[in-house]
Amino acid sequence: MCGIFGYVNYLVDRSRGEILETLLQGLQRLEYRGYDSAGVAVDGADKNDVWMYKSVGKVAALRELVAAQCGDPGQRFDCHVGIAHTRWATHGQPSPQNAHPHRSDPGNEFVVVHNGIVTNYRELKALLTSKGCVFETETDTECIAKLCKYVYDTNTHRNLDFSGLTRLVLAELQGAYGLLIKSVHFPGEVMATRKGSPLLIGVKTDKKLKVDFVDVEFPEGGHGSLTEDMQHLSVQGAPVGATGSLLAAPSPLAAFRNDLRNELRHSQSRAFMSEDGVPMPVEFFIASDASSVVEHTKKVLFLEDDDIAHIYDGELHIHRARREAGQSTTRSIQTLEMELNQIMKGNYDHFMQKEIFEQPESVINTMRGRVDFDKKTVTVGGLSAFLGSIRRSRRIIMVACGTSYHSCLATRAIFEELTEIPIVVELASDFLDRRSPVFRDDSCVFVSQSGETADSILALQYCLEREALTVGVVNTVGSSISRQTHCGVHINAGPEIGVASTKAYTSQYIALVMMALALSDDKLSKTARRHEIIDGLGRISAQISDVLKLDESIKQLITTELVAHKSLLVLGRGYQFATALEGALKIKEISYMHSEGVLAGELKHGVLALVDEDLPIILLATRDSLYPKVVSAVEQVIARKGKPILICNDGSDTFVQQHSGIALRTLEVPATVDCLQGLLNVIPLQLMSYWLALQRGHNVDFPRNLAKSVTVE
Ligand code: UD1
Ligand code: M6R
Repeated sequence: MCGIFGYVNYLVDRSRGEILETLLQGLQRLEYRGYDSAGVAVDGADKNDVWMYKSVGKVAALRELVAAQCGDPGQRFDCHVGIAHTRWATHGQPSPQNAHPHRSDPGNEFVVVHNGIVTNYRELKALLTSKGCVFETETDTECIAKLCKYVYDTNTHRNLDFSGLTRLVLAELQGAYGLLIKSVHFPGEVMATRKGSPLLIGVKTDKKLKVDFVDVEFPEGGHGSLTEDMQHLSVQGAPVGATGSLLAAPSPLAAFRNDLRNELRHSQSRAFMSEDGVPMPVEFFIASDASSVVEHTKKVLFLEDDDIAHIYDGELHIHRARREAGQSTTRSIQTLEMELNQIMKGNYDHFMQKEIFEQPESVINTMRGRVDFDKKTVTVGGLSAFLGSIRRSRRIIMVACGTSYHSCLATRAIFEELTEIPIVVELASDFLDRRSPVFRDDSCVFVSQSGETADSILALQYCLEREALTVGVVNTVGSSISRQTHCGVHINAGPEIGVASTKAYTSQYIALVMMALALSDDKLSKTARRHEIIDGLGRISAQISDVLKLDESIKQLITTELVAHKSLLVLGRGYQFATALEGALKIKEISYMHSEGVLAGELKHGVLALVDEDLPIILLATRDSLYPKVVSAVEQVIARKGKPILICNDGSDTFVQQHSGIALRTLEVPATVDCLQGLLNVIPLQLMSYWLALQRGHNVDFPRNLAKSVTVE
């Protein structure tokens, strides 16, 4: 998915080469999000000039282009704004032209990078074309750059500062955006704004900031917004005013605007005030994702939807068009705990491999400070104040996509058993398509690794509108879902970079089990079961380490048995149906092998027709109450000459021994409590998908056509 990175240096002397390197490195840190092209914009020979470099493919290709074409890399800047972007095509093919930054005109007066979608871009494009703009790309984003210049040019009195101009532009945009704007008309300044797409600003100074927050600035004097006071540019219905000019002729109102502009401009941001009145050297790193900022600074500020950040003269100002009741008037500058080495590959060949092997640790991080194994209690801080409301719910609706959806399916049964509340599990897109009824006494749980998945966010908004209680189960702190839900649990799995979700799945699973345990701790009748599960959680990390020892034999099995096949089935039932679905998704996602997760009970209702001696079948046959039924599925497969591979608890099992003569392969995993067994069973499947992809020569971390964070519907 698209990534934004911007770099501002103020009174910090940097060469063009250093600035470009910072921008390119920022983009490289965003590579894991998936993208097809990349670009940067920096100042040219003087402040009236902006240079842009764009190319298709990896950031490495952009780096080569920059090296070949960039003018004097030694030219120095003590105040400079650079913006950069990785694009994942939505409107228009991947091409250098369609790559960001996009420009207002051949003179690059305004250049923008944008994540998200401008849904009314056709109308804007038609309007701007009628005003003489010539579009060069197929993207929705280009209309933002063109609109900036149109607003600037029609403001003949030049009484708009950069933030006033941006506000007028934003008033015309529909859709979602994380957006940076740079302009030759406002050298050394950058606008950063978001709506429905994440954006954060890292701050680096030598001196300590005076305060660790930034005041939000609102228009004064009861005026709703600059926009409201001005003639509005109409692109929806009525045509633009006769003159086509955005601003009326000089008037008392214009004078008011001038005052207001000066007032805003001169209000100094408290955080950046220096003791002695001497301007403070500062660098700002603006990004759609913290992973590109942490190597520079841990001090970050997360923008909220509709915040308009204006960086100039070494200060960060946050404007909003209007004051709303109950809204916070400051944005805190937080200290991120994420270490860079957390997001690097370490000694592993791929992020996915590293993340699979991190699971003994990541599951502990999910439980740390929350599960007391001695006292056998679970405290989920983020839910404490809401447990009563959730317990009183008529039902709990779990909403998610992909792997996150599977974690909901995997825990539904134990949730129902412990809470005795009906649980509905929904795929976010289908839930929205059906406009499923939601009531005030429903609790809706949104499970998402990124917290930025568009379908899940839309479903969350749908539930918020219906006044249901909303709960997030999210990995990314500060993400949209984490901030928009009433309460929730951060799963604390650490950054997951491989597109294929692995450690997030096991941590989501555990977070949901912890939630069910917390919800049921008022039920005496469940005490024994709860204790059994808590004990199981206490052993799970060591057991995951044991399962990971299967790595080498799984690699062999892939080479000898599976790599050459076209298709594969994964069968499971009960708790293991979700594991089968998740294993099949992992396999198809990165190895591009067709694979299907099948409910073992459904075998005889159709799928059995596929079974012959050639079709590889993996059966989840760990021992729980449904084991005899799984054995019957294995027998049905064997009777059709199938050669199943069993993920089972113990090779000394009589069934396995009886059938050992018929090429019954087994992968043994330790036994745990039935509702936790999926945490162990999924790991051989993760490893299988990894080795399959690798042996088939695919890019494990960045599978084709997929992105880490799916921020469009
Ligand atoms: C806190 C720590 C966590 C630590 C745990 C146990 C923080 C941010 N978290 O977690 O690292 O492991 O104590 O010591 O310091 N929230 C939502 N929606 C979501 C996710 C969270 O609204 O999707 C809210 C929660 O309701 C809570 C806040 O965000 O108010 C923090 O959540 P979380 O980190 O899970 O809280 P704790 O369990 O207290
Ligand atoms: O960030 P989310 O958990 O909301 O993402 C949901 C899915 O897009 C995601 O789980 C996807 O299915 C994974 N790539 C699967 O490995």
